[in-house]
Amino acid sequence: MRVPILAANWKMNLSRREAKNLVEDLLKVAQPFQQNQQREVVLCPSAHLLVEVGSLLEGKSNYGLGAQNVYWKESGAFTGELSSTMLRDCGCSHAIIGHSERRAYFHETDKDCYQKVEAALQNNLVPILCVGESLEQREAGKTKEIVLNQLQGALKGQSLSSGDKLVIAYEPIWAIGTGKTDTPEGAESTIAVLRQELGNLFGERIAQQVRLLYGGSVNPGNIDALMAQPNIDGALVGGASLKAESFARIVNYQTQASLAN
Ligand code: 13P
Repeated sequence: MRVPILAANWKMNLSRREAKNLVEDLLKVAQPFQQNQQREVVLCPSAHLLVEVGSLLEGKSNYGLGAQNVYWKESGAFTGELSSTMLRDCGCSHAIIGHSERRAYFHETDKDCYQKVEAALQNNLVPILCVGESLEQREAGKTKEIVLNQLQGALKGQSLSSGDKLVIAYEPIWAIGTGKTDTPEGAESTIAVLRQELGNLFGERIAQQVRLLYGGSVNPGNIDALMAQPNIDGALVGGASLKAESFARIVNYQTQASLAN
């Protein structure tokens, strides 16, 4: 069984004080271990918060710490960049790679993503690789082609010993920060295609282990329906992760089984 992941991408937000308050409130209100429902929570703050948030999460085995970016070189003259070893040194377990904002504003390519994923995997940092189409591409009927190209570009040729070392987030660009969400069925259909391609790249056993998340205006009102889809293993949440109450509700999404209890 794939353990669901609820990941918070705080983007370029929060002061140190705000972050501390948010984590403390979240730890009070979120109860990710409900009966037999194991859930992983990954918080991805901006770089200046990593060490502090990491120390607040110390000893919380179901919480991970993620960076929002990583550079593929180990060390050297790369002003402004952080290597996967440095992120490990800050306590990171995960790193978001290829977020659409980085692709759009910082010109990251699939080749860059490949090198970042490779470096992360080599240093035991779980990549959260983001893929997603623009509105124009969607309207042209190219969603699956676009996300498959991004997936192949970042992953084809990588060596992966186990599927739990990789997370993929399908984030349609038109749904990010807009209040528009893909339908659960639409997201499921694209994510199922991504899983199928993971099978082609790494074999069926690994493909069944990889967690595939949906991202794009996830909120307390739509999380339950998204999580009811068989191939959706979690969410990558932006705006709604900045408030403890709303992110806690997302972490504690309801399943048919939990509603029956
Ligand atoms: P929103 O949840 O604010 O739409 O952001 C999604 C996102 O980009 C997460 O990485």
